[in-house]
This record gives sequence, structure tokens and C-alpha cells, in this order.
Amino acid sequence: MATILAIETSCDETAVALVKNRQVLSSIVSSQIDLHSIYGGVVPELASRQHLESINFCLAEAIAKANLAWQDIDAIASTCAPGLVGALLVGSTTAKTLSLVHDKPFLGVHHLEGHIYASYLSEPDLQPPFLTLLVSGGHTSIIHVKDCGEYEMLGTTRDDAAGEAFDKVARLLKLGYPGGPIIDKLAKEGNPKAFQLPEGRISLPEGGYHPYDTSFSGLKTAVLRLTQQLESQGDIPVADVAASFQNTVAKVLTKRTIKCALDYGLTTITVGGGVAANSELRSQLTAAATAQNLQVHFPPLKFCTDNAAMIGCAASEHYDLGHVSDLMLKVRSRMPIKDVMELYS
Ligand code: KG4
Ligand code: ZN
Repeated sequence: MATILAIETSCDETAVALVKNRQVLSSIVSSQIDLHSIYGGVVPELASRQHLESINFCLAEAIAKANLAWQDIDAIASTCAPGLVGALLVGSTTAKTLSLVHDKPFLGVHHLEGHIYASYLSEPDLQPPFLTLLVSGGHTSIIHVKDCGEYEMLGTTRDDAAGEAFDKVARLLKLGYPGGPIIDKLAKEGNPKAFQLPEGRISLPEGGYHPYDTSFSGLKTAVLRLTQQLESQGDIPVADVAASFQNTVAKVLTKRTIKCALDYGLTTITVGGGVAANSELRSQLTAAATAQNLQVHFPPLKFCTDNAAMIGCAASEHYDLGHVSDLMLKVRSRMPIKDVMELYS
């Protein structure tokens, strides 16, 4: 029953949490959305500087809320890959410093592993093997979780990530940033069947289509062409376009994930990442899984988008297995999830 202090600064959220086993003692998230929204996306240099401004306040608040003393904490963890290098450095340097000063083990955590473990926070009895659909601003992956640290990527996107597609479509509809929550809300007022949009299937050289991979850039271009056409005819029915786009993304992700679970004989599916908060994806995937007698778990909304509780949860599983990172561990902008054990010495 390890108690972990975890830090997440891989993108535009400064987050600190205290996690005991699979229980969240405190979780502080300071979002930089307002800072970046005028640019329509995350500006890396601004993100690093803002992490530096916020990290000490987040730390103090997380420790105070959990009402713990340093001697109650077993290890310090931080996201070390993948992410914006300058942003990752703020969190990892803070975690390493605390680890040195308080003489606690340090664990570097893979950001995507964190998103996988977010499901453990609400499902304390969940155990591998299971299938995870990981859908965030930077990733769209179908991952076979065989054990802690043992992952096989079975499906991915060939171009834009699911969250990136939401953000780009919101930008072209002039809705603001980040696009996912705005489209999700607006789509409730629209007709999801108003427009037929392409599913982005990937052709195989031997014929047929890849069963689990997808492409979202064709869908984004189709939405662009559709809006240009609608604009030339008069007003754009924005809610109908948003609902049709969201319906297509949810349908594509649901089909691929259910097929993969059935093909691999996995009866449990978990979902992680910012797009796991999407209401249409939640309802379509839940209905399809139930129809096939599969179980599907979505983390609570606050643990879908970036947070440190999920990082603490992943670190706690590794800590229990005796995995510890070297203080010389470098942060990495890219790192396939299959290589996660490279973080531990
Ligand atoms: O996991 P996350 O917080 O950060 C990354 O690791 O990328 O995901 C952020 C992404 C953004 O692209 C945002 O538009 C999307 O998640 N997102 C959503 C929703 N809430 C956040 N996409 C669809 N529907 C939502 N409700
Ligand atoms: Zn994330």
C-alpha cells in the first residue's frame, strides 16, 4: 500500500496528486487552457514557463489537502515521456529534487501508461489482461495490456490523433480551443445523421482494410469541404456538422475497439485520455460492448484529461513490483509504450 506523490507536466496542465494504492488522497490540476487558447493550440515555451510558475503552489496545495507529512510518502513520481521536453523537465526536475532532499525513491512514468491506469482509480479490482482504447490530443491507440509494463500496440491512427481531429474541426468551425468539449456540447443540439462523412479506413496492400488502424485527416478534410460548400449556399448548420463529425469519430473508434477485443478474446475494455470524456463515444462504446457481453470502464471525467492521480496510480503499480528509476533518467519527447520498462533501472 504505497503512498506516491506524483507530478504531471507533459503538456498544458500542471498537476500534482497524492495517491495511496488506487485511492486518490488529493489531486490538483492547474490548467493553462486560457494561456494557449488565443493561439489555437499549445505554445511549448509558454507551457514550460507557466509550469515553473505553478508547480510549487500545486505541490503545497496537494500536500495540504492530503494532510500528509513527508515521512508518510513512500516515493516521488513524475511523467518523463512522451511530451514537450521543456514542460517534462519542470516536473521531472522537481520530482528528482524532492526525491533527493527527502531521500525517497524516484519513478519516471510514461504518460500513456498513466492514462491506462486512470481506470484503476474507479475500478480498484481491475487486473490485466484487458484492452485499452487510448484517445487523447496526441494519441489514438488500441493497446493490449498484458501486465504492468507489458503492452502491445494493436491499432493506431496513421495521421491526426482523435483529440487533434476534434481540435482542428473546432478551429475550422471557429468554435475555440480545446475543441473536444465544445463540439461535445454543441453536438447535443445537432442531428448526428445530417451529413455522411468518411470513416477513414486504411487499405492493405494485399486488399481489404486494416481492422484496427484508422485515419482522421481524411475526415477533417471532408468536414472542411462540407463547410466550404455549405458556406457558399448560405449559413453553416454548425451543430449538425459538429454532431455528424462526432458521430463518425465515435462510430469508427467503437467498431475498431470492439472488433479488436473480440479477435483477441479480451472481455474487458478500458478507455483513457481526454476524448474518453466524449459523451457520444461513451454511449456508443457502452452499447456495443454490452451487446457483445463485454465490460467497458471509463474513468471519471476529471481523470480522463491530464492529471497527476493517474501518474501516481501507474507509479504505485511499478513501485509494488520493485521498479525504481535512476535520478539521471532523461525526459523524452517520444517513447513507444512497449519501451516503458526503459524508464526503470
Ligand atoms: O489527455 P488529454 O488531456 O491531453 C493529451 O495527453 O493530449 O487530451 C486532450 C484532448 C484535446 O484534444 C481535447 O479536445 C480532447 O482531449 N477532449 C475531448 C473532450 N474533452 C477533451 N474530446 C472530445 N470530447 C470531449 N468531451
Ligand atoms: Zn494525456
